[in-house]
Amino acid sequence: MRVLVVGSGAREHAICLSFSGDSRVTSLICAPGNAGTAAIAEQRPLDILNPAAVAALAVELGAEFVVIGPEAPLVAGVADAVRAAGIPCFGPSQAAAQLEGSKAFAKDVMAAAGVPTARSRLCLDAAQAAAALDEFGAPYVVKDDGLAAGKGVVVTSDRDEALAHAAECGRVVIEEYLDGPEVSLFCVTDGHTVVPLLPAQDFKRIGDGDTGPNTGGMGAYAPLPWLPPETVDQVLREVAQPTVEELAARGVPFAGLLYIGLAMTSAGPRVIEFNARFGDPETQVVLALLESSLLQLLYAAAVGTLAEVPSLVWRDESAVTVVIAAANYPGTPRLGDVITGSEAEGVIHAGTRRREDGAIVSSGGRVLSATATASTLAGARDQAYTVLSGIDLAGGQFRTDIAQRAIYKEIEIPQ
Ligand code: AMP
Ligand code: GLY
Repeated sequence: MRVLVVGSGAREHAICLSFSGDSRVTSLICAPGNAGTAAIAEQRPLDILNPAAVAALAVELGAEFVVIGPEAPLVAGVADAVRAAGIPCFGPSQAAAQLEGSKAFAKDVMAAAGVPTARSRLCLDAAQAAAALDEFGAPYVVKDDGLAAGKGVVVTSDRDEALAHAAECGRVVIEEYLDGPEVSLFCVTDGHTVVPLLPAQDFKRIGDGDTGPNTGGMGAYAPLPWLPPETVDQVLREVAQPTVEELAARGVPFAGLLYIGLAMTSAGPRVIEFNARFGDPETQVVLALLESSLLQLLYAAAVGTLAEVPSLVWRDESAVTVVIAAANYPGTPRLGDVITGSEAEGVIHAGTRRREDGAIVSSGGRVLSATATASTLAGARDQAYTVLSGIDLAGGQFRTDIAQRAIYKEIEIPQ
């Protein structure tokens, strides 16, 4: 099968790594890709936000299957254009991708489907924002209504900071604070059948001990030793199935990856957010543990035959990934720094490119992640940091505490 993967992040590199080892794949193209995908797939330049351009490339390549990685092209309608060209495509339609593209739409779907989530208010001006902040009280949670790559959310006990973020965004969702450890659960769906992957945990803040501003994610591990084993079934029953059914009933079936971001509160799992694509960096750890064919799974979701796919098989191991971000991230990242050691096993590329002189340089906020698996979580963590120690990036930032609290059994679900 000729497969085109659209995107240029760590998620696309991880997907390409999985596809490149699959005998069903006869040729693999990644567009536009990064320095990591270039080592295992053919590269093509591409404006991924242009639906016609993506569909045209897929046709020109004779692609038999297209995977759309990031959210922005999904929200721009790229999956619709590829399907309209007659090519099976993994990724929801523009209409269904609103689940990620608009926090207000997601809240509306959750309310209609009876999905447990934080109480919230959509606020269009400063007076509405102030009223909502006072209704829910501190800590305040203020979310830009549109796509913001995980950086549109401010969680703070400072009312002025919350108001300033609301003013900056214009249209915001303000909601009650959810107390409890976070879980990312990826579910593959064809619009009816839902298949959950392993739960993972992400580290959103830039600094050790969950300090500093939110980022797209600084590290992850899977599975979660502290999570009650029945949680996945519960989230499937209470969140994933009702959401998929509600969207189908609205005539906007969601086929692709439903990313459920949860807080494990004293009242049970509560949805923090939905995304319409694999998460970064959780994908690196989840796919590192998947033994079954990712290609078979995603293709079945694209063509509506997920019910026929055999149960997934997982390695009986743990995985840890640690992100290296560019200087100044999550502010405007410094780009163009030379990276060494990034071709080692376990290094997954995100914002990297190969310069004309052959050097690999940084080209995005999150640059690389160091990923490892081992029979224990502590072993995987040690290995991941060993992989990381072989990489050099001037000004590179990384957290030193990824997976640490889970290993020390310090994570508790509030009672
Ligand atoms: P989001 O973009 O909605 O995922 O939010 C980014 C991050 O902000 C989440 O991963 C949480 O760490 C935090 N967050 C978002 N909503 C809430 C909430 N209602 N309560 C507590 N933390 C939240
Ligand atoms: N890791 C968070 C995200 O992908 O949105």
